[in-house]
Order: sequence, then C-alpha cells, then structure tokens
Amino acid sequence: LIGCTGTDLFSLCGWGWVSGQIRYSVLEESEVGTAVGNVAQDLGLKVEQLAGRRLRLGSEESRQHFAVRLDSGVLVVSERLDRERLCGAASSCVLSVQVVAENPLQLFRLEVEILDLNDNSPSFPTARRSLRIAESAAVATRFPLESAQDPDVGTNAVGSYRLNPNSHFSLDVKQLQDGKLFPELVLERALDREERPELQLVLTAVDGGSPARSGTAQITVQVLDINDNAPAFDRATYKVQIPENTPVGALLLQLNASDPDEGPNGETQYSFGVHTSEAVRRLFALDPHSGEVRVSGELDFEESPFYEIHVRARDRGVPEMEGHCVLQVEVEDANDNPPEVLLTSLLNPVPEDTPPETVVGLFNVRDRDSGANGDVSLEISPSVPFAVRSLQNHFSLVTRQSLDRETTSQYVVQLIAQDGGSPALTTSLTLLLNVSDVNDNPPRFLQPSYDAFVPENSPPGSLLCTVSASDPDDGDNSLLVYSIEGHVQGAPASSYVHINPNDGNLYAQRTFDFELLQVLPISVAVRDSGSLPLHANVTVYIFVLDQNDHSPTILHPAGNGDVPTPERVPLSAPPGYLVTKVTAVDADAGYNAWLSYRLLPESTEPSLFHVSQYTGEVRTARVLRDTDVAVQQLLILVADNGDPPLSTTVTISVALEEEALEESYKPRDFLAGAKEKPDLTLYLIIALAAVSTVALATVTLLAAWCLMGSAGWALVGCCRGSARKPTSHFHGQLKPDGFIKYLDVGRAGLGSQAQNYTSCFSPMSEQSDFLFRGGEDLKSRSPGCSFCSVLGMCWDFSHSLALRYY
Ligand SMILES: *[C@@H]1O[C@H](CO)[C@@H](O)[C@H](O)[C@H]1NC(C)=O
Ligand SMILES: *[C@@H]1O[C@H](CO)[C@@H](O)[C@H](O)[C@H]1NC(C)=O
Repeated sequence: LIGCTGTDLFSLCGWGWVSGQIRYSVLEESEVGTAVGNVAQDLGLKVEQLAGRRLRLGSEESRQHFAVRLDSGVLVVSERLDRERLCGAASSCVLSVQVVAENPLQLFRLEVEILDLNDNSPSFPTARRSLRIAESAAVATRFPLESAQDPDVGTNAVGSYRLNPNSHFSLDVKQLQDGKLFPELVLERALDREERPELQLVLTAVDGGSPARSGTAQITVQVLDINDNAPAFDRATYKVQIPENTPVGALLLQLNASDPDEGPNGETQYSFGVHTSEAVRRLFALDPHSGEVRVSGELDFEESPFYEIHVRARDRGVPEMEGHCVLQVEVEDANDNPPEVLLTSLLNPVPEDTPPETVVGLFNVRDRDSGANGDVSLEISPSVPFAVRSLQNHFSLVTRQSLDRETTSQYVVQLIAQDGGSPALTTSLTLLLNVSDVNDNPPRFLQPSYDAFVPENSPPGSLLCTVSASDPDDGDNSLLVYSIEGHVQGAPASSYVHINPNDGNLYAQRTFDFELLQVLPISVAVRDSGSLPLHANVTVYIFVLDQNDHSPTILHPAGNGDVPTPERVPLSAPPGYLVTKVTAVDADAGYNAWLSYRLLPESTEPSLFHVSQYTGEVRTARVLRDTDVAVQQLLILVADNGDPPLSTTVTISVALEEEALEESYKPRDFLAGAKEKPDLTLYLIIALAAVSTVALATVTLLAAWCLMGSAGWALVGCCRGSARKPTSHFHGQLKPDGFIKYLDVGRAGLGSQAQNYTSCFSPMSEQSDFLFRGGEDLKSRSPGCSFCSVLGMCWDFSHSLALRYY
C-alpha cells in the first residue's frame, strides 16, 4: 500500500494527495495509545526521516482521535472511541485520517474503521407501561408492544424478546423486512377482572452480543371491568316469620345481593319484582340501596297469613344485570281481634207474657283470630231474667223466667264475648230490652168498699163520693172506665146515681128520702180498655142522712079532724091522776124523732094539769074543785128535737065529772087505741135509751182499745172506709150530737181472732136495719145478750144505728 498512488490532486499540483488503500481497524473503546497501524511503514517512510519530514495528522478531526508516534511511525488511539457516538446506527463506521509529511509535502489518506463492541444493552423507551384490556377481550387478540432499542449494531443489536411466564398472555415477535423485531402480546386465556384485576408482565429484550445483554420493560395489564356479573343473592328463597302485630317500621330482613363487578356495574339497587302484589307493596317497604325490608303497614294474619315478596337486585352497568330472590313471610297470629257480636234479630219489646225459654234474640259471634284466639264464649249479666244458649258460634237469647212489666219494664242486658287468647280480648254489647205490656192485671179499687153520705132532700146532682181504682198495666190496658151496675129496688141503679166514667165521681140522680131508703148499695164496676178488658167491682154504700122533715104525728088521741071525745076525770081524783097519754110519732129518726110534750098556756086552765115532758102523760096537778070549769080544753104541743124543731099541737078536752069509775084506777093501756103500731112508741124509747147506752159503750170500748194498745181509732168521714191495717181497729162515726151513725170494727187479716167478735141483739132489734158484712165468722144472733166485753162484743142498737163488721 503506497501513498500517492491513486488519484492524487496534490501530486498533480506540485504537492499532491497520496491516497492509497491503507485501511486500519480498531475496536471501539480501545485504550488510549492502542496502536491502530504502522503508518510510516505502510506509507513507505523511513523511521529516521519521520522527524525531518514533520509527519503529522492533517485534520483537526483526525488529531482528535488519533496521534502518530514519530519515533515509530505508529498511529495510536488518542482518545476513547465510541462507535455509537461517532457513527450512530450506521452499520459501518469508518473514520478518515489525513497524514501530512513535508519535504516534500505529501498528503496521505488513511481509513480507520471503528469496530463495534457490544457495549450497549437493549432498552425500552418506556420501562414501565400499563396496558388496559377489557376483560371481555377475545382469546388470540394481539396487543403490540414497544420494541426495545439497542445502539449496537449487527449481532449486538436486539436479537430476541422474552416474556415472563404468566397465565394469560404469550409473546409473539414479528420481524420486519429490515430485520427489526416487533413484540406483540397474544391473549391466550380469557381475562376475568373479578378473578385478577391486574397482571404484571416483564418483557425482556436480548441482543446477540456475546455476552448477550438484555433490557426489560414492566408491563402492567389492567383488566377493565365489563358488566358480566349479575347481582346474586345468598339464597334464592328466604323465610321469615313475623308476628302480625309487628309495628310499622320494624326490620324484617336485610337482603344482600353481591355483584363482584366494579363501579356502576357493581352498584346494586333493590326493587320489588314485576309481579309483586299490591298488598305486598302496601305492607312492606324495600330500601333500594340498603336492601332492608321493613314492615310499612299493619300486618293482619286474618287478612293474609302468608306473603311472598319477589325481590330484584339490579346493577347499573350497561346492560343492566339482575338477580332475584323470593322472601316468604309467614305472619303469625296474635290475639289482636276482639270477638265481634252481631245481632241477627231481636224481639224488642218482649211481651211480658212470653213464656220461659222463648228465644228473643239471635246472635252471631265471630273472632277473626285463629285457634284459641278465635274461640269465643258469650256471657250475660246474671241479674237479668235472660240466658244465653249456644249452638256452635250461634247464640240465642232466651227468657229464663217469666217477665212482669209491672215489676220491671226495661232490662239492660249486657253480653260479654270473650275469646280464648291470653290475654283474652272481650267485647261487650249492651241491649236495652223493653217489656211490653199485656193486660194481665185487673183494675183494683183502692178501698174494699166506699161509703157516701147524702142528706135526704138534697137536690140531684150533688157529688156523693169519688171511687178510685188503679191498674198497674200500661197504656190502654190501664185506661179505666167506671160504670154503675145492677138494680136497686127493681129500678136500674143508674137511675139513682150517675158516675163519671173517667174520674169515678158519683153524683146523685134524684132526691133521697131517708124515710123511704136509708142505705143504698150501689155496685160500681170498672174496666180497663185492653183488647180483652179486665174488670172489678165495688159496692158504694150510700147512707141517706136524716133531715128533720117530718112533724110529729099524733096517734092518740085520735086525729085532729075528728071531734075529740072528752076524757072523763072524777072530781075526786087526787093530784097526779093520770088523765090520758098523748102518743105521737115522728117519721124522722134520732133527735128528729125524739119528741117532747108541753102544755100550752092557751089551755083553759094550764095550772090544773101537768104534761110529762117525755112520756106525754097528762096528769092532774092538784085537787079538783067544783069551781073548776067542767070541760077543760088542753092544748098540748108535741115537738121533736130537730134543728129547727117541728111541732104539732093536739087539743084534748077533759070533762070533770062527779061519779068516779072503778076502772079509772086501773092501770090504763093508752096504747090500746093505737094497736096498729104498738112497737113504735116502745121503739122510740129504746132508741133514746140506746143513744146513751151505745155512746157509753163506745167510749168504754174505745178506751179499752186504747189501753190495750191495739190500735188507734179515728173518726171517719165520707168515703173513708176501713182499709185493712196490720192491727185491729175500730172505726166509728160520732155525729156532733153524740149519735152513733155507724161503727166499723176491723181486724187485720180476718184471722182466727176475728171470730172473737160476736153480736147479739135485744129482742127489739130482731128486725133491725143493721147491716152485716163479711160475716161468715159472725156468731149467730143471740137474743137477750146484754154483756159487752172488749173481745166478745155485744151490741144493742137502736134503729138508727148501723153496725158494720168486716
Ligand atoms: C224502650 O223504651 C224506651 C223508653 O222507655 C224507648 O225510648 C225506646 O224507644 C224503647 N225501645 C223499643 C225498641 O221499644
Ligand atoms: C162483682 O164482683 C163479684 C165478686 O167479686 C162477682 O161475683 C160479681 O159477679 C161482680 N159483679 C159484676 C156486675 O161484675
């Protein structure tokens, strides 16, 4: 290799380039001073000449890298050579070196090839990178990766890639036409974020140097979530038991559906299934976020003992995915329903004649609870005459005993229904049962009999008495109507008295004459206005009171109309000689008939005769003389004791005669002339005697009664009869003048003591007007009895006395 042997411009112009094919090679990174080649020798220069020729490197660039040693003519490395810096990626790296020699000036060109040394490792532009791959990526999908860089060339450049062993990816390396390698990830097995959300891969690039060098890249594969999981409940069916009285808001169950997906894909929302019944929606509430199922309404076992709740859990991915479960809720019965009593029918009012064990009401009883909670018993308040009879759940209300409206007209019936729960619930029903009236009570007079007193001659229309009856029935059944019944002395009783049918006032229909009728028994009937009227009757005794309406009637001597036959009196008659006896009667009674006699001064010689005031006997008052008028006219007044008194006068003529008649001295029966009515005079006497006797007896009797402490006695007025009192009693009426009108002797209960009373009468009383009633225990009349005692009474009554005995 000789310089200047080629195209050499310098040699052409006097000093030309010596350009030859001298080419050296040196490894990069060689030590400074490493000989590259012997330039002097290769250029054909002698070592001794080198200094003289001032051999040196021509260009600045050359001097930078190399130097020439003048003592040996060797080209050496003057600095560290980096092929990659000097030549980059070029596959060959040749530096041209100029060598200059003077004397003669010569220019030589050398080439130094820098030989590559594997001094660089492959490297990745991004040492850590992440790949985001959806978990749904299909198997065999390729994911290109970055190539690794290696500045070295040739075999020292990247020769292969490696991937760390992993479950999902393999590595495939493609070689381009220029020989470059491109690594790609190939999905070998489907990804599952839920299983492994992230994979760490290590890609290693290896060059072909020896020793080989490598570089790695960290690849993080992030598996992206796909909504591939439906929310799932732990169980398909949940069973819950809950008492029916669970309060609103109580937690029934906390549902939990899990969704392994991420983000919205895993956000579960709960809702009722499509076919959820309206009742379930009303009674249960489902929290869409927490999954809590709560009671939101009143659970009622009786309405439904079982609910099935379909719950759906749904995520928010696209598309949404759903999971389902069924919640079976068993409602347990609690005794929350009181029994109900339903009145089916009721007989109200109940007639009082309803016989015992008659059904008056029907009930249905029910309890919506089940089991013992629904077993109902019905009880009735014990104080009413009703009872409850049961037939399963049907109850009837029956009468237990007979009813009486007059005692109780209304019953408050309380029915208590009780179930068998614990605690038991009760319902009470109160019925107001009226008892309706039946005409079962006849009217009753307030007194067993009535007495009325009417003075004779009083005008018709006067109020005699008021009778009064009562009827405990109700309404028309107690509406009373009074009437007069029967006949009195052949005439209808109503022709004597009239009764107001409504108020029982009794009025006289006519004028009464005591002398004709002393006592008038009137039968008064009363009836109620029921449909089947009931009636009662009572006797009203109307006593006609005597008035002084009759003047005394002279029985002897004979009537005023006739010329009186003179009474003969012998002149020799001693003083007190009974001349005659005036006999008179009075049709009235009592004092009105009590007569007194008086000689009127109009007589011829009033001093000559004396008239006995009570007997009517006319006797001489002194010795008769011849000078006395032979025929004396005596005017005698007969007056009764009435108020005012009525009187009659009678004129008696007395003839004074010489001869005396034997028989004149004989007792004379002056009543012989009035034989028709011999009783009357006697009767009057007895009557007067009786007045005092009975008055005395009455007072004695009353006093004895009082002393015995038996009972009080009272003066009884009109229409005051004797009521039966618990003790014996004695009633009487005393007229102001002491005349006893009637006596009432009563005894409680008409018991055994009643027969202690006996009545006896004097012979004169045999035909008396005495009225005896209730006398079944009245002893037979015993004439002549004159003994009176308290318990064995003996009465001797005059004509004007009526004894009433009960
Ligand atoms: C029961 O009697 C009362 C009054 O005593 C009355 O107000 C009520 O209406 C009666 N009821 C029936 C059903 O007759
Ligand atoms: C009056 O009552 C008595 C018994 O109480 C009875 O014998 C009589 O028939 C009744 N008279 C009338 C008219 O009702």
